[in-house]
Amino acid sequence: MRVVAHGAGGGPEVLQVVAGPVPVAGAQDVLIAVHYAGVNGPDIVQRKGKYPPPPGASPVLGLEVSGNIAAVGAEVTQWKVGDAVCALTPGGGYAEYCVAPAAHCLPLPGGFDLERAAAIPENFFTVWTNLIERARLASGETVLIHGGSGGIGYSAIQVAKAWGATVIATVGNAEKEAFARSVGADHVINYRTHDFAEEARRIVEARGVDVILDMVGGEYFRKNLGLLGLEGRLVQIAFQQGSKFADLDLMPVMMRRLTITGSTLRAQPAQNKARIADGLRAHLWPLFANGALRVVIHRVFEFDDVVAAHTMMESGRHLGKLLLRLR
Ligand SMILES: NC(=O)c1ccc[n+]([C@@H]2O[C@H](COP(=O)([O-])OP(=O)(O)OC[C@H]3O[C@@H](n4cnc5c(N)ncnc54)[C@H](OP(=O)(O)O)[C@@H]3O)[C@@H](O)[C@H]2O)c1
Repeated sequence: MRVVAHGAGGGPEVLQVVAGPVPVAGAQDVLIAVHYAGVNGPDIVQRKGKYPPPPGASPVLGLEVSGNIAAVGAEVTQWKVGDAVCALTPGGGYAEYCVAPAAHCLPLPGGFDLERAAAIPENFFTVWTNLIERARLASGETVLIHGGSGGIGYSAIQVAKAWGATVIATVGNAEKEAFARSVGADHVINYRTHDFAEEARRIVEARGVDVILDMVGGEYFRKNLGLLGLEGRLVQIAFQQGSKFADLDLMPVMMRRLTITGSTLRAQPAQNKARIADGLRAHLWPLFANGALRVVIHRVFEFDDVVAAHTMMESGRHLGKLLLRLR
């Protein structure tokens, strides 16, 4: 089969489509004939050699796919050959065939085709587990979502709105500001022209923010802590600007009874991801089917154009998802 190799790692130019063996599904896995593979932030970090796959996972990039089931493992009962699915994968998505645990596959939501379904898993598994399970976002609360125009950010804005929250999002330019509003953000702050903490404080006043979803870290960490109100929750899903802090005063954690938490999706045990998949199917699938949640696909690249896909991802010019087409 055709598969993307990233060799010893480096810039987008290290990516090459090469020939490789078709993987074999284990007893609880399925083999998927991949139609579309999502391109995600973590793929860039892995390509650079800074995000090694967990033990047992494919070394090939690609954390989500859509396609048709080509083979099922001996213990799989819920899927049959030919079924159309989208799936969270432990790796290996940038290939014509990919193995995924059967419990991490989902049917296409009502009205979705394989292209749009491929844009769901990585973003919405991450948002569901961090915003709803971990931060316990509730109706009537206020949430601050950083990186509001990226894959995670635009998904988080929509889930938070569907949950009845007031959403403040941060973005890096005017085009992204319009995009974040178009997917439901109530307030959007351009962090390049304004101090996001001052602007958010003006919006929430003394009450503070209930939940913050952050992937920036660095100087944002201190500002995030300052913005959280009583019982506020900060969820850290990346530290693009650093995770080490000198002279950090954690007194607010005690005085305002804050929760600081975070997670990475990929490293979690298979049963956790199966639980998250069940949560998506029960709570988000009806919202995709009725149009309350949507995917925004910025661009679909042909498989051979994987270098261009990564170059665009790294440029940060995209609004929403980037996909690779394999069939
Ligand atoms: N923990 C997990 O389970 C998990 C899962 C998936 C992804 N992630 C991480 O989450 C992040 C987002 O992933 P993604 O797929 O959504 O990638 P993406 O589409 O490239 O989005 C990245 C976002 O980060 C924002 N950003 C980058 N530098 C920033 C800065 N200095 N200040 C403010 N915003 C900044 C960008 O906004 P602007 O362009 O407007 O600056 C962009 O919206 C990545 O770091 C990824 O590794 C974590």
